[in-house]
Amino acid sequence: MQDPAAISALYDLINTKQPNLHEHCKRVAEYALMLADKTGLDESQRQMLYDSAMLHDIGKAEIPDNILNKPGKLTPEEYDVIKQHTIAGYNAIKDINELKSLGPAILHHHERIDGKGYPCGLQGDDIPLSARILAIADSFDAMTSYRPYKNAMTIQEAADELRTNSGSQFDSRLVECFLSLPIFNDL
Ligand SMILES: [Fe+2]
Repeated sequence: MQDPAAISALYDLINTKQPNLHEHCKRVAEYALMLADKTGLDESQRQMLYDSAMLHDIGKAEIPDNILNKPGKLTPEEYDVIKQHTIAGYNAIKDINELKSLGPAILHHHERIDGKGYPCGLQGDDIPLSARILAIADSFDAMTSYRPYKNAMTIQEAADELRTNSGSQFDSRLVECFLSLPIFNDL
């Protein structure tokens, strides 16, 4: 069981940096738990997944505002800076006893099944299950949300995108589970 006070203190830190992040993280946590329930995680793994979802982008506290909140397209150099948020997030919690179990999910939530993700380029099942679940929940919410540089996709468009990238970016078994959730029933 993680320490709720420590999580909330860390959480406040990032929320001052990027106010929309709070709502994003809550939705990511909800999607992650819905998916987790299809994979049979036990209660302590569910809690860990929820806390990881709430803190997955904590490392963005280290990213300069002008890059983090840039309305236009990022340069390759700026994108390299953004990528550092996975390592910064991991470093922020790795020495805190109550939070260190969240490390793998936070560090690896931008890995891809084909090994082309970051920061480690892990492939397939070498990517922790929690991180593979977060990748889908995070991407789905990012796709269906408005951002200054893009419009929100419809649920149908985002589902198609998950399907297209199933097996390359995302774990295909998990995509199948995710798309069987009730939110996709009307598609
Ligand atoms: Fe992230």
